[in-house]
Amino acid sequence: MSSFHDFNKSIEIDEFLWDAEIEASKAYAKALFKAGILDKKEFNSIKKALKKIKVNKNPNSFEDVHMAVLNLLIQKTGNSGKKLHTGRSRNEQVATDERIWLKEKIFEISKEIKELQRVIVKIAEKNFGVIIPGYTHLRQAQPVLFSHYIMSLFWKMQRGEERLLEALKRVDELPLGCGAFAGSSIPIDRNLLKKELRFSKISENSIDSVSDRNFILEVLFALSLILLDLSRYAEDFIIFSSEEFSFIYFEDFEKFGSSMMPHKANPDIFELIRAKAGKIFGYLTSLYIVLKGTPISYNKDMQEDKIPLKEGVDTAFNTIRAFKEMLEKLKINKEEIRRKMGYLVYSTDIVDYLIEKGMNFEDAYATVKKLCEFSKRENIPFDCITLKKYKEFSSLFEKDVYLIFSPESSVRKKKTYGSTHPAWVKFQIDKAKEVLKNTKNKL
Ligand code: ARG
Repeated sequence: MSSFHDFNKSIEIDEFLWDAEIEASKAYAKALFKAGILDKKEFNSIKKALKKIKVNKNPNSFEDVHMAVLNLLIQKTGNSGKKLHTGRSRNEQVATDERIWLKEKIFEISKEIKELQRVIVKIAEKNFGVIIPGYTHLRQAQPVLFSHYIMSLFWKMQRGEERLLEALKRVDELPLGCGAFAGSSIPIDRNLLKKELRFSKISENSIDSVSDRNFILEVLFALSLILLDLSRYAEDFIIFSSEEFSFIYFEDFEKFGSSMMPHKANPDIFELIRAKAGKIFGYLTSLYIVLKGTPISYNKDMQEDKIPLKEGVDTAFNTIRAFKEMLEKLKINKEEIRRKMGYLVYSTDIVDYLIEKGMNFEDAYATVKKLCEFSKRENIPFDCITLKKYKEFSSLFEKDVYLIFSPESSVRKKKTYGSTHPAWVKFQIDKAKEVLKNTKNKL
């Protein structure tokens, strides 16, 4: 076999479309039967033979999954099989198979996201009341409920899944019946194909349909955002579980040590999650570049969509699952969190205190900035500064200033919808549970 044969073929990578190819071929045979190309006997023999064509039949000598299935069918059925490709093109087959496969995968991933969201809610409820220093610029900023922090991932995943299901609308459009690109001279009933293959609609334009791969890009984009978010939380968990923080711990770290340093318990899985996000951005980018500039309609360049599609989707699924499984093992170290909460996280609460006593924001901010400078310079935490000293900064300070300095009173000061006030966080968790219940009803 020439090197061109090897260069041209895609069978090693498009084998994942095998089941979809069989399903689409079965539906197409039915349409040919209806069109009078196949008689009942021929249709039945094709149907029977398609059931038996297995992927492990070593189809390696064929160019692609479509040639493999067709040729194995002809070997089994002879003349009947030779009619199956009447009015059909691999250009429409590949686009159809990819959509069939992708629809299934989107449902699987969507279920996995829901599972992850369930774990998030469980953790938020179990650890309700734990308060961590929240971060901006990776510097301690303000106290927040840990549940509030972890619930932020719930809503990101909710939008991630919504985007994915939005993309599904574009995936769920059937190309079969479009021929090579101009349509078919055989009266193929495309509505019959739509029903057989459980698509929501048939494509409106045969040229559009065989030339489109944006449906893959759209799914990869939706998935890339999900992985982008997971990679950021993975990074948080790596930091929060380091010796320097010790806020959280995952028992599974013990499984990933160092071959040289006996004491190590590493966050390998989160590091890999971080890297997998990079990988999916690569698949997305590579497909953009493959498609860019290819003339309308089908071009062989498009065969190179298989790795981004298969690997991108599988990577996303495995990453979401690994993240979920790690999250199930999360343990919180309340004492360490309490110990590491620096007193400066209350500076905004002091500003609010002065505003409550009648000072305007700008003056309150400037006053507390000076207070912070003094406290850092003299190394005296807020709760150890005397009232006399406080009064040097502003006469508005009273004894009740000392009530500010606890994580609990800080979070309770928040009033806005969606804030870290325990009542709002509880409200948020209830709402999330409602969201999960509603999706369950829909599935
Ligand atoms: N293996 C090809 C692909 O993946 C199928 C379509 C080939 N069509 C053609 N006319 N050569 O895109």
